[in-house]
Amino acid sequence: MIDISSLYQRFQDELSQVRASGILEQLMQKYVGKQGEVTLLLKNLVNVPIEERKIIGGQLQDLRQTIETALEEKLSHLEFQEITAKEAQESLDVTQPSHTMLGSLHPLTQVQHQLVDVFQSLGFAVLRGPEAESEYYNFEALNIPSTHPARDMQDTFFLRSGVVMRTHTSPVQVRAMEKYGAPLRMIVPGRVFRNEALDASHEHTFYQLEGMMIDENLTISNLLAVMKLLLKEMFGREIKVRLRPGYFPFVEPGFELDAECAFCSGKGCNVCKHSGWIELIPCGMIHPKVLEYGKIDTKKYNGWAFGLGLSRLVMLKYKIDDIRLMQSGDLRFLQQFAF
Ligand code: PHE
Repeated sequence: MIDISSLYQRFQDELSQVRASGILEQLMQKYVGKQGEVTLLLKNLVNVPIEERKIIGGQLQDLRQTIETALEEKLSHLEFQEITAKEAQESLDVTQPSHTMLGSLHPLTQVQHQLVDVFQSLGFAVLRGPEAESEYYNFEALNIPSTHPARDMQDTFFLRSGVVMRTHTSPVQVRAMEKYGAPLRMIVPGRVFRNEALDASHEHTFYQLEGMMIDENLTISNLLAVMKLLLKEMFGREIKVRLRPGYFPFVEPGFELDAECAFCSGKGCNVCKHSGWIELIPCGMIHPKVLEYGKIDTKKYNGWAFGLGLSRLVMLKYKIDDIRLMQSGDLRFLQQFAF
């Protein structure tokens, strides 16, 4: 005779011991799983005489149902307990002060945005060009043939044959002429690369802002007026400038535009090597050969261009004395420019 009630009692005792939902699975297997006690009893009913089989069979089915229900209830009860305990542990206190650090724009980006604003207000387009540039655009189309010693002016990272890391933003000049023709006003802020020995004023990667204007009858005074405006916007006051002759194969005449030293207001200090001036913007009237490379009608149009040292300008504006800080990712440096 099968003692159903003591079997049930045993199940209940074991169930009451269970404290974790994982253990319930074992109990389920033990009683109502494939090889479970109740399952086997049901299977073995074939050996029981038919009269008894009906009664016991019904009782066993009921027992199985009861056990399964009890297991389910216990499972949801335990899961609820477990989740509540976990929530208590991981609770989020929304009143706690936040220690999240806010990001901010790099000083280079801030100054770049300022310059872009100035030039956009003057009707200049903002263009980009590839950082891995062909030798053709980086040198050839800028009137620097491969045999010309001027190639040595800029220490170059060579990639594949015919491809270099651009040494300046000037290659975008001819790219823009080809694409848009004349008249044209554009600037190109961007990263440039030189194979330099590194020190406080030399980095292998730095930023320039190229500018170019092509129109009829442009003169050096147009160029100067724009440069002065740029510096005024940047420093919040009139900055004195002077032009010195400077050699770049892609401009004729070519200049170095010096700005009055912002550190000493032109009186002379360590930064300007006691000259009162800081070399800031190489520039000039675009060489006719370069215009020709860009398919510009040189009988009708001429142009000027400049290649502002953006990294240098930022250093001047914020009195930063080591260019390597710019790409250091040092938060103590960067946080000084957060606003
Ligand atoms: N591309 C030159 C340089 O990087 C600067 C420059 C640009 C000079 C435009 C004249 C005109 O040295």
